[in-house]
Amino acid sequence: MALTRRNFLMGAASAAGIAAAGLDARAENKTAGAADAQAEYATLLDIEKCIGCGQCVEGCRERNGHRYPEVKKPLPAMFPPGTKDEDWSDRRDVDDRLTPYNWLYIESVTVQKDGAPLELHIPRRCLHCTNPPCANLCPWGAASRQPETGTVSIDSQTCLGGAKCRTVCPWHIPQRQSGVGLYLELMPRFAGNGVMYKCDRCADSFAHGELPACVEVCPQQVQTIGPRGEILALARKLAQERGAYLYGVTENGGTNTFYLSPVPFKELAQQVKPGPGKPTFAPVANSMAQADNLTRMLVTAPLVGVAGALVSAARQGQNTGQMQTRPHGAVHDPKVDAALSGGLLKKLWVTVALLLGFTGMMQLPVASRYGIARIPGLTWTGDFYITLNIHYILATLLLALGLYWLTLQIRGRLRGRLAFWGKMRLAVLGVVVLSGIGRVAKNLPSITFSPGMTTVIDLVHLGFAVLLGVLCLWLWTTGRGAWREDG
Ligand code: HEM
Ligand code: SF4
Ligand code: SF4
Ligand code: SF4
Repeated sequence: MALTRRNFLMGAASAAGIAAAGLDARAENKTAGAADAQAEYATLLDIEKCIGCGQCVEGCRERNGHRYPEVKKPLPAMFPPGTKDEDWSDRRDVDDRLTPYNWLYIESVTVQKDGAPLELHIPRRCLHCTNPPCANLCPWGAASRQPETGTVSIDSQTCLGGAKCRTVCPWHIPQRQSGVGLYLELMPRFAGNGVMYKCDRCADSFAHGELPACVEVCPQQVQTIGPRGEILALARKLAQERGAYLYGVTENGGTNTFYLSPVPFKELAQQVKPGPGKPTFAPVANSMAQADNLTRMLVTAPLVGVAGALVSAARQGQNTGQMQTRPHGAVHDPKVDAALSGGLLKKLWVTVALLLGFTGMMQLPVASRYGIARIPGLTWTGDFYITLNIHYILATLLLALGLYWLTLQIRGRLRGRLAFWGKMRLAVLGVVVLSGIGRVAKNLPSITFSPGMTTVIDLVHLGFAVLLGVLCLWLWTTGRGAWREDG
């Protein structure tokens, strides 16, 4: 990272010192030098200072114009008929909302302050969340968070434009341009629909030591950028001194963009009408909180499975009268044998695996496009958070069942040996489970994988889940479905 702290919050070690020095980003940005630190960066936007001149919007366009989509026309026909593309290429000038060609816009509102009208101008763009659902839930790792800068970006080379990031973002920030990107090389009619675009804090120039354009060109020094801790301290100090209000500190579990407002944000929220490309100022709960909670349950599942198997084995040991010795020497309880082969565990496994496959597939942006979410009784498939939570619960069940089975197997409590195709299926399932655990880990606020690693984990999970499904179906239809040698 070729940015020095001096570019941003110069010298003064404490936020108080920074504020006292009247430091702003523009004043210090000329002092660019060699990198000396890596930090999660945050910006503070002092709403009261903004005069709505729009120079930041222009600056963003000038700096990032070379990365705007160049569309190949005509756009491909989409399946099923009625699937809408989104084409902004003839409306590049639109600057009163977010578009693929406008990553920042100014929202102007009039509020009441001390009995008088007060006009406020608010630059709006991606907030760069600290645990961003857009990146966590992207099926391919195209959206990612860089922990060393705290920036969230979307890779235009790998994004397929399914727009899941926009759906799961509480502010619906990313914007789609159809007719561009990787999907055109794959199955343009059936999957994907373009590329998603949004502010990435001028990632390429930021990496070379330059300030984000909107920070740099603002004549009012509305924005201050620096290490998150220091910017947060500055934001809190200013809020306390002025009796002002903050947005972005706790929203969506925390972001790297703090708005400082002279009036409560609920008043701004009343004035700002959210709509396509126009984010809200309403309170936003942590989108990943439920997944974080379910992870706790998931990590205890193996322990429950092992404990259940040990209890079951101990009970067998106390009742050796019921035990039988099989030709290969293992000791068995007919009740456990019956449960495992006769089917309770098998039925449970098949049900859980089928539902995992279904809820997994519904995490790809297919339910709305292919009308699954319009089928009565299946409308829940259109909500990525619901399908994610169900997938977590089912994965918990699978881990508990799997470890229960594995413990009994290791302790020689099960009859017969695993058949060849049983072993194969277990191996494939093992990869699905391990990559699934990788995906769960990635969703935790404290863990970020590199974009490449994320893509590998995501593709392995999907690929091996599909392989497992195909393998099970093939074995079942060819009469080779038995997991054990003796059926
Ligand atoms: C312990 C077991 C498993 C865990 C922990 C797990 C976890 C996950 C997670 C976290 C996601 C991604 C959600 C997101 O972040 O967007 C996911 C997606 C998915 N899962 Fe699983 N999963 C498990 C087992 C399975 C199994 C057994 C199947 C299929 C038989 C399956 C099929 C899928 C599919 C198809 C997807 C969506 C494709 C993708 O984006 O990779 N999963 N799973
Ligand atoms: S350049 Fe500065 S003052 Fe002008 S609209 Fe943007 S943030 Fe406001
Ligand atoms: S504001 Fe939306 S698009 Fe930006 S990082 Fe957060 S979830 Fe992602
Ligand atoms: S940080 Fe860069 S990309 Fe983001 S709005 Fe500002 S100028 Fe545009």
